[in-house]
Amino acid sequence: MSSKTLATLFAAVVAVRGAVTQQPLIWDNVRIGGGGGFVPSIVFNPNAVGLAYARTDIGGVYRLDPYDDTWLPLLDFANDTTSDFWGTDALATDPVQPENLYIAVGLYTNSWDPNNGTILKSSDRGESFSFHPLPFKVGGNMPGRGMGERLVVDPNNNNILFFGARSGHGLWKSTNAGETWSQVKSFPSVGTYIVDPTDTTGLNSDIVGISWVTFDKNSGTTGGSSRIFAGVANMGQDNVFVSTDAGATWSAVAGQNNTFIPHHGVLSPAEDALYIPYANGVGPWDGTAGYVKKLFIGNMSWVDITPAQGIADNSYGYSGLSVDLQKPGTVMLAPFNEWYPDANILRSTDGGASWTQIFSFGYPPPDYVGTKTPYYNYDDSQAPWITTFATGDTKQVGWGIQGLAIDPFNSSHWLYGTGLTIYGGHDLLNWDASPRKNITLSSLATGVEETAVTGLTAPSSGGPKLVSVVGDVGGFVHTDLTTPPPTFSNPIWPGTASDVDHAGASPSNIVRLSGISASTSVSVATSSDGGATWAPYAGAPAVSDNVYGGKIAMSAKGETLLWAGATGFSGIMVSKSGAPFTAVSGLPSNAIIASDKLNDSTFYAASGSSFFTSTDGGATFKQTATLGSSTSPVRIAASPFTAGELFVSSDKGVFHSTNSGSSFTAIPGPTNAWSISVGKGASSTGPSSLFAAATINGVNSLYRTDDLGANWSLLPSYSTGLGSASGMVLAADPNVYGQIFVGTNGRGIFYGHL
Ligand SMILES: *[C@@H]1O[C@H](CO)[C@@H](O)[C@H](O)[C@H]1NC(C)=O
Ligand SMILES: *[C@@H]1O[C@H](CO)[C@@H](O)[C@H](O)[C@H]1NC(C)=O
Ligand SMILES: *[C@@H]1O[C@H](CO)[C@@H](O)[C@H](O)[C@H]1NC(C)=O
Ligand SMILES: *[C@@H]1O[C@H](CO)[C@@H](O)[C@H](O)[C@H]1NC(C)=O
Ligand SMILES: *[C@@H]1O[C@H](CO)[C@@H](O)[C@H](O)[C@H]1NC(C)=O
Ligand SMILES: *[C@@H]1O[C@H](CO)[C@@H](O)[C@H](O)[C@H]1NC(C)=O
Ligand SMILES: *[C@@H]1O[C@H](CO)[C@@H](O)[C@H](O)[C@H]1NC(C)=O
Ligand SMILES: *[C@@H]1O[C@H](CO)[C@@H](O)[C@H](O)[C@H]1NC(C)=O
Repeated sequence: MSSKTLATLFAAVVAVRGAVTQQPLIWDNVRIGGGGGFVPSIVFNPNAVGLAYARTDIGGVYRLDPYDDTWLPLLDFANDTTSDFWGTDALATDPVQPENLYIAVGLYTNSWDPNNGTILKSSDRGESFSFHPLPFKVGGNMPGRGMGERLVVDPNNNNILFFGARSGHGLWKSTNAGETWSQVKSFPSVGTYIVDPTDTTGLNSDIVGISWVTFDKNSGTTGGSSRIFAGVANMGQDNVFVSTDAGATWSAVAGQNNTFIPHHGVLSPAEDALYIPYANGVGPWDGTAGYVKKLFIGNMSWVDITPAQGIADNSYGYSGLSVDLQKPGTVMLAPFNEWYPDANILRSTDGGASWTQIFSFGYPPPDYVGTKTPYYNYDDSQAPWITTFATGDTKQVGWGIQGLAIDPFNSSHWLYGTGLTIYGGHDLLNWDASPRKNITLSSLATGVEETAVTGLTAPSSGGPKLVSVVGDVGGFVHTDLTTPPPTFSNPIWPGTASDVDHAGASPSNIVRLSGISASTSVSVATSSDGGATWAPYAGAPAVSDNVYGGKIAMSAKGETLLWAGATGFSGIMVSKSGAPFTAVSGLPSNAIIASDKLNDSTFYAASGSSFFTSTDGGATFKQTATLGSSTSPVRIAASPFTAGELFVSSDKGVFHSTNSGSSFTAIPGPTNAWSISVGKGASSTGPSSLFAAATINGVNSLYRTDDLGANWSLLPSYSTGLGSASGMVLAADPNVYGQIFVGTNGRGIFYGHL
């Protein structure tokens, strides 16, 4: 099914729904300037100049625009039913017909994702896709996602594809260009390596499986390549296999050392050799040893090309590896999780016999006395938040480097993915100059917006348009929506932030809450100038108390903070004017909370079917109403326009109160709802609008009503589906009718407008 056919279907689905009409907004990203999450792989097409893709673990796939170094998202059509398409475990760009693109999608192989995987196929470089189901799950956000590629097209017959599965499902083959698949039963290993067999979540206790397949391009016949290599996540058992009869039979390559796991099999056709980096973990965070091997295909003999200790620090594994197709024997190599002082990327121009460093440093341990002297100039001007976020960190080159690629048509151009963003440059040959010249190492991820958003707040005036908090990289103050913003400082939390709120009647006052262990600074910070400057909150628990996470609400004038769901404290806490947080009375410990946006003494809470109000600044709560038959309230959204007006979403829909929660009426339409937010009304005399991530007529999506539920508009477009409805984080723009900010779980923040 193409996405154009989808447009027709989309309209047809909605037409039968009376008061629910399709009214797609115009959608764009709120830009942070690139990245914000792990980029496991970058894949260039070897036969089309400038064609490259970046694969992410929870935010889909992007295509490079080689003329301006920006990236175009390709899987934004994913909506609630296809939200697991944003997990991408492997990607293949067809070397024969470069217009063809294949992506293996699916988020998890454990119960977190109920769906089997899918092969997405495009014949127009990702403008549209057909979907080809697999009979097993695909784990795009699972361990080992930076190995590969485990999906490949035969360069000698592009109807033939191989896909290496996880979970013990083995090696699969398609002979009709990805439309149907069958298992290669003769393949000798389904994989045995499991990161952590005791992990009861299932995330780390599954078999990582076949990690890469590489066709020997030089072994072509009209029927396809006869020689094919495959690597398997096995440790201490054979893990590099070869077929010399086009995949009919397989054997372990003789003479291999199987102590560690092979991450990639990179063919250097001119050298007739295969380069293989190995580690004792699968990535992105877990290697403590490794080596690098080169297999000469002509005589099937192995050579160890591991950099000497001292040039490298061999207390990490190796993963990212690329060869320069224009310069046989030029190879680059990344220690994927070397964290101190930084990832020392290495380069060889003699086929791995000797290596040079991207920075010099005094290895080996315990001799960590070196000064890090970069052979690069650093440029993160396209993503200036990185410098603030990395304050006090020794790393610039990155961490989690599993996808590293030299442009097959230009030896000066290279790109690699890290846990944070994409780096690269256009002057790589400076590395080889004598005397050596610096390269410029740049953040080159513009267009890649892959944060997982945990909270948003849109102040009504006197400050930024939006303040966001996100997983892994903290969050941002967005004074406009297109310029990359700085990130928070004082304090900088080196990781996930969990919530943010502003004072409705005094909107320059903002609070943010850390989602990570408060090991270096307190976990509550406030700003009184619209997020321009911040300070640790005086009443926050001491660092030694290690209380963090949960959700926080700021009173209308900003004097009082209410805090629920903290790790390290049982129950709901309140603090006024910088006094220490103390427990509130009258609330169950699992209550969700919110402030009235205009009445400084009023706070709201809900738990089960019970609704609670505090009229004394959060000190005490009393149950004031019942939310129908709800068993799990999700969000309380107070109106920024009218004191005492609020909405509550729950597993039974959306409830509305105009009397500070003394009574509620159910809003027609939703049978279940997640994030909700109150926006400016369609007219100055009518009601406010309400945005809801909800189930209406059985369809989970994002909706708006301008008449308290009489009519609903379905807001995603067929090209911007916004992913999972339950994953959406909403903040309506209080100043612009119809404008909504939508945080996603992996594709950053969108804003939609009329
Ligand atoms: C979601 O996307 C799928 C596939 O792309 C499409 O078939 C379906 O109609 C979409 N659903 C909605 C509510 O738009
Ligand atoms: C996944 O595929 C298996 C094997 O074909 C099938 O039994 C199972 O029902 C599928 N699961 C889903 C959710 O479609
Ligand atoms: C295989 O590699 C390991 C780790 O480097 C090494 O200790 C071992 O001696 C190697 N085995 C052989 C047979 O070379
Ligand atoms: C295998 O072939 C390579 C490349 O021709 C050569 O350098 C190497 O010495 C050969 N090794 C053996 C063991 O013959
Ligand atoms: C290379 O860059 C580093 C860091 O910017 C700088 O300290 C050094 O002087 C530069 N070296 C050369 C040769 O320009
Ligand atoms: C490679 O890229 C550099 C820098 O952008 C450019 O100057 C050069 O012309 C390119 N070379 C080729 C062969 O395209
Ligand atoms: C704020 O709430 C208090 C307590 O319910 C009430 O007495 C007061 O009238 C409210 N103020 C406004 C402006 O609504
Ligand atoms: C809104 O809902 C009312 C009541 O169901 C209906 O009469 C009216 O036509 C609807 N308006 C629109 C624009 O659909």
